[in-house]
Amino acid sequence: MTKGKSSGFDRAPQCAYLRPMILLGIETSCDETAAALVADDRRVLAEAVLSQLAEHQPYGGVVPEIAARSHLDHLDTLIRRVMAEAHLGFSDLAGIAATGGPGLIGGVMVGVMTGKAIAAVAERPFLAVNHLEGHALTARLTHDVRFPFLLLLVSGGHCQLLLVSGVGRYRRLGTTIDDTAGEAFDKAAKLLGLGYPGGPALERAAAGGDDARIPLPRPMLGRPGADFSFSGLKTALRHRLAEMKGEAPPQAIADLAAAFQQAVIDCLADRTANALEMAKDAAPVTALVVAGGVAANAGLRRRLEQVASAGGLPLVAPPARYCTDNAAMIAWAGVERLRLGLTDRMDFAPRPRWPLDPTAKPGARA
Ligand code: KG4
Ligand code: ZN
Repeated sequence: MTKGKSSGFDRAPQCAYLRPMILLGIETSCDETAAALVADDRRVLAEAVLSQLAEHQPYGGVVPEIAARSHLDHLDTLIRRVMAEAHLGFSDLAGIAATGGPGLIGGVMVGVMTGKAIAAVAERPFLAVNHLEGHALTARLTHDVRFPFLLLLVSGGHCQLLLVSGVGRYRRLGTTIDDTAGEAFDKAAKLLGLGYPGGPALERAAAGGDDARIPLPRPMLGRPGADFSFSGLKTALRHRLAEMKGEAPPQAIADLAAAFQQAVIDCLADRTANALEMAKDAAPVTALVVAGGVAANAGLRRRLEQVASAGGLPLVAPPARYCTDNAAMIAWAGVERLRLGLTDRMDFAPRPRWPLDPTAKPGARA
């Protein structure tokens, strides 16, 4: 299944004699195979995303070997498709950007090898993009966001608060010490029998529930700093379910879903407010940016609007297809890096872990 096949942002027209710089982006670090062509004037010329959801669904999570094989099977076709759609040849490219990590290493290897091969044939620069940098810079593709800004990155693979001061200039203010927010939603949904992926299913179930009827804890709330923890919340949910002896009626499931969702939102909002205070000490941030699959949650967006406006800032949330894993964000990070001459050598080795802020102490996630 392909989604979000092509789009373009309306921007000021280019001068005829100033040809835009166009990059091919490749994303293969998890369970989406994606290719995109992005110009330095912020137009997305063509994009294709192939979700592997159906292949992993029977296992209730992403199986690395299945993911790598599927990237290998489909990436060439997706690249051919975006090149044809934009009527471009490889020689029209200014560079090739591929996710170099962090991620499932088999998939990252497929993307990096493909990117290097095209770069070698077309004699163009190769750029190994940190997947987290892709998420971090997306708001500058979709909105006029200036550095520095605070990023809340919340997905299945990542749960971080980052002060983004420039390309390659990231300070991690908080990370999770156990599960990511996306994992928390997925595991809670599984416990409640709501299916996979859990976030959207849990949000739907929560709509019919009362979030105040069954109390759940808010780990880390009110503590200094901006780190997250969700495993205690998941355990509390398991206990509440156990107390019902496996006979939770549909209304209790909805109430538990609502209580769980509200607890996660409260934790994310509390940690983000702290991070805004921490960021202020370092630099006057221009915006609060949210990205990652969990950013699709309507209740979370509403709450983050309040957090941002309390700090006198706008909340910037890229459209959902650019919040989740995609190749336009990799191509765009490539544009930003190429402008600064930050290209990579052909012996770049794919990285399973690659923290954006190498000075931060290791967390549960890269
Ligand atoms: O960014 P993403 O598509 O993939 C990565 O993990 O990198 O994020 C997927 C995560 C899943 O854990 C999913 O349950 C969660 O985002 N998610 C949501 C919602 N939609 C997706 N969580 C809460 N509410 C949602 N509406
Ligand atoms: Zn991601």
